Amino acid sequence: MRKKKIAVFASGSGTNAEKIFQHFKGHEQIEVSLLCCNKPGAYVLERAQRFDIPSYVFSRNEFYDSTVVSDRLKTEGIDLIVLAGFMWLVPDYLVADFEDRIINIHPALLPKFGGKGMYGMHVHKAVKQAGETVSGITIHFVNNRYDEGNIIEQFTCQLTPSDTPEVIARKVQKLEHENYPKVIDNLVLKY
Ligand code: GAR
Repeated sequence: MRKKKIAVFASGSGTNAEKIFQHFKGHEQIEVSLLCCNKPGAYVLERAQRFDIPSYVFSRNEFYDSTVVSDRLKTEGIDLIVLAGFMWLVPDYLVADFEDRIINIHPALLPKFGGKGMYGMHVHKAVKQAGETVSGITIHFVNNRYDEGNIIEQFTCQLTPSDTPEVIARKVQKLEHENYPKVIDNLVLKY
């Protein structure tokens, strides 16, 4: 049986992407066959290179005003698209072409602390500001609205009143790194 193919989309540093690359390196049934990126020079491109994973960098026009990205993913036989710190809204044509085959990770417990502009430290500052005693991560399907697709799984961490946004970020990142690759592994085999 052919291996299931994952395309990882990332925009920046790519620590989650790297955990995913590590997890699937040498995997018998699943491979990361493409890293897609909207930012030339993003550090995630170097991480992909170290794992011998081909990269595909595209522009805003290509992504929103053509179907080249979807065409490429279809040609490569991608089974699942995994967003890992990808900061652009996924356009309608791509959501339609890969219905229920695009997932995202969000660094908070949706439906709280989601939506446009809610990414990275903005999220953790908002969590702190709200005096939350728990935060965590949400892994969810992607539709054409920020952070609103059906939730697949959530993982939580306890917060203390003295936790700064930076401490919250570290706790949440630990959850992401531990859990995202495993959730992908379980999900992709269903396709
Ligand atoms: C991760 O924390 C991910 O949850 C977040 O971006 C970070 C990327 O970090 N995504 C969002 O905020 C999406 N709204 P990384 O580049 O180190 O993996």
